[in-house]
Amino acid sequence: MKRGMNAIPRIRINNLPTPLVELKRLSRALGGPRIFMKRDDLTGVALGGNKTRKLEFLLGEALSGKCDSVVTGGAMQSNHCRQTAAAAAAVGLECHLALGGEPPAIPEGNLLLDHIFGAIVHWCGANAKGELIPQITEDLRSRGRTPYVIPFGGSNATGAFGFVAAVSELIGQMQDADLRFDRLIVPSSSGGTHAGLVVGADVFDLAADVIGIGIDRAAPGKPSYESELAALANQVAERLGVDARYDACAFRMRYDYFGGGYGVVGDAEREAIRLVGAQEGILLDPVYSARAMGALIDMIRREEFARGDSVLFWHTGGIPAVFDHAKDIVPR
Ligand SMILES: Cc1ncc(COP(=O)(O)O)c(C=O)c1O
Repeated sequence: MKRGMNAIPRIRINNLPTPLVELKRLSRALGGPRIFMKRDDLTGVALGGNKTRKLEFLLGEALSGKCDSVVTGGAMQSNHCRQTAAAAAAVGLECHLALGGEPPAIPEGNLLLDHIFGAIVHWCGANAKGELIPQITEDLRSRGRTPYVIPFGGSNATGAFGFVAAVSELIGQMQDADLRFDRLIVPSSSGGTHAGLVVGADVFDLAADVIGIGIDRAAPGKPSYESELAALANQVAERLGVDARYDACAFRMRYDYFGGGYGVVGDAEREAIRLVGAQEGILLDPVYSARAMGALIDMIRREEFARGDSVLFWHTGGIPAVFDHAKDIVPR
């Protein structure tokens, strides 16, 4: 398998390994298990985040295919788009972003950074999940360009390789510090992070239960989100030449933390941001990591962990959104 992984084109843009830290004060404040955090908010590119791990493989493929531009899309405050814009700039690819909404009077948060990184923004109104990527790509091709398409969230098999590799990195850190984890908590949305971690856990013998916290859905849907995760994991395993095959049961999701909906900052997210900020001096983002941390806090209060357990929280970044949600985080 190692050979399979090494044969895949990859660029190196991140500061790896990201720190693995113990949150002793948070654990004490909650009277909970040992809590550790994998700090992918510190991957290094453009204020960090989980997508830059995916982008090492996605842009590796783009460059090896001699592409001259990338096209991707998402919501106006997409972390994925911001990280793609920065990574594309760093390797000299023109970046086209299909963003939902209309241009605001003042670009803030991630959108401000998209502009700074020189991305070309295509405003797509109600289409906030990259629906117009094919149209933009076709237009570029008709003008003689060679675009590389990155799907919504960077969640295809190529992107998910980033999280197979991340598990290998984690295992090295666990061995160095003589640690083991019972559970791993991660926000799960377009699926590449979660699917990559589950395949990586099998490949590198990580025993922890991987639990995805649903960020943008209140229930599995049809076909179930777990089936989509399994399909993606199977593509990853196949391309790596790994024997494992997955079905929906291989994925554990919690949908009970959807609160007021995607991007709505409620009491759970607010408490998570302020508690982790005040206890540990670590920033969570209001949409993803705060929702997942809110879930972890609730699970601890419900006594879903034993005192002696060790839980790993995967911080997936998203920091620029803090500044776009100031009034939700500190209401007046
Ligand atoms: C900060 C942050 N965390 C987590 C996720 C979820 O990752 P995935 O889309 O791979 O499920 C995203 C996706 O946009 C994100 O921006």
